Amino acid sequence: MNDRHIPVLLDKSIEYLITNKSGIYFDATLGFGGHSGFILSKLDKPAKLIGTDKDRRAFDFCLEKFAGEDRASFYNTGFTNIDAVAKLEHIDGFDGIIADLGVSSFQLDDESEGFTYRTDAPLDLRMSKENTTTAADAVNNLSYKELTKIFFDFGEDPNSRKIANAIIQERKKKRIETTFELRKIIENVVPSKFVMRTLSRIFQALRIYVNDELEELKIFLSKSTELLKSGGRLVVLTYHSLEDRIVKEFFKFESLDCVCPPEFPVCVCDKTARLKILTKRPVTADDEELKRNKRARSGKLRAAEKI
Ligand SMILES: C[S@@+](CC[C@H](N)C(=O)[O-])C[C@H]1O[C@@H](n2cnc3c(N)ncnc32)[C@H](O)[C@@H]1O
Repeated sequence: MNDRHIPVLLDKSIEYLITNKSGIYFDATLGFGGHSGFILSKLDKPAKLIGTDKDRRAFDFCLEKFAGEDRASFYNTGFTNIDAVAKLEHIDGFDGIIADLGVSSFQLDDESEGFTYRTDAPLDLRMSKENTTTAADAVNNLSYKELTKIFFDFGEDPNSRKIANAIIQERKKKRIETTFELRKIIENVVPSKFVMRTLSRIFQALRIYVNDELEELKIFLSKSTELLKSGGRLVVLTYHSLEDRIVKEFFKFESLDCVCPPEFPVCVCDKTARLKILTKRPVTADDEELKRNKRARSGKLRAAEKI
């Protein structure tokens, strides 16, 4: 497979990430190795880069792309295993950790996985085949209440109830198996001018649910903070508001020394700040990058430094 992915906010990511050219770095989401390649090009000989990707194809692609690069080691696993990977590599702390969240063309272009409502495919949406629940399992087995909650919480879709209800009615006739079957159900209940936006929200919601993306992000942020050396940097690129909110709130919480209610006369929580926020506002792509890379439109970068 060709390297078709244009990495988002590449210069900015590296500017925030690298503080020590001989340090140890972690790329949580290898994808096509765009960020990894650039990181390696900026590091000196004794440096190290560890990378993970849940998707077997991304892992295989990077193994081949970086064959002979003895500063790099890759793992085909989820980034929530960052602690286990660090242990295997005998690493006590990282100088920098980066995650570029979301999906890559490995998933979007594989017509057998149903990551896009634009092609007819089995309704799968799993980033790793180790997950046992597919999107088809979700739409066919979950209750009206559960589906409504997923569409509302993970897709922020105002038609969540209507769509959940239509799915329940349809699956009484026949199991919903494909992207186009789900698409048709949505097209039947949403006014045509809102169809595309709704499809995008519902597919996003199902993808987040099937891959447990938000919970995994929280675990990753917490483990990463633990594993950074003092002065080490955590850089996260997000592509939708739910992920960005989690990163923003996590950074804020970890940058506070005390979280006691303001009416308490003295601190009883004993919490100490672990991070210093480096990006008051999220960094976004400039006009030149937006022209070159459509995907950069929704990208937001936040960075923090371990105290
Ligand atoms: C946007 S792409 C990364 C692109 C990469 N930065 C580049 O420049 O080529 C996101 C990648 O993260 C992977 N991914 C998503 N969730 C993951 C997780 N929980 N653990 C590990 N990899 C994950 C996806 O499989 C995908 O390959």
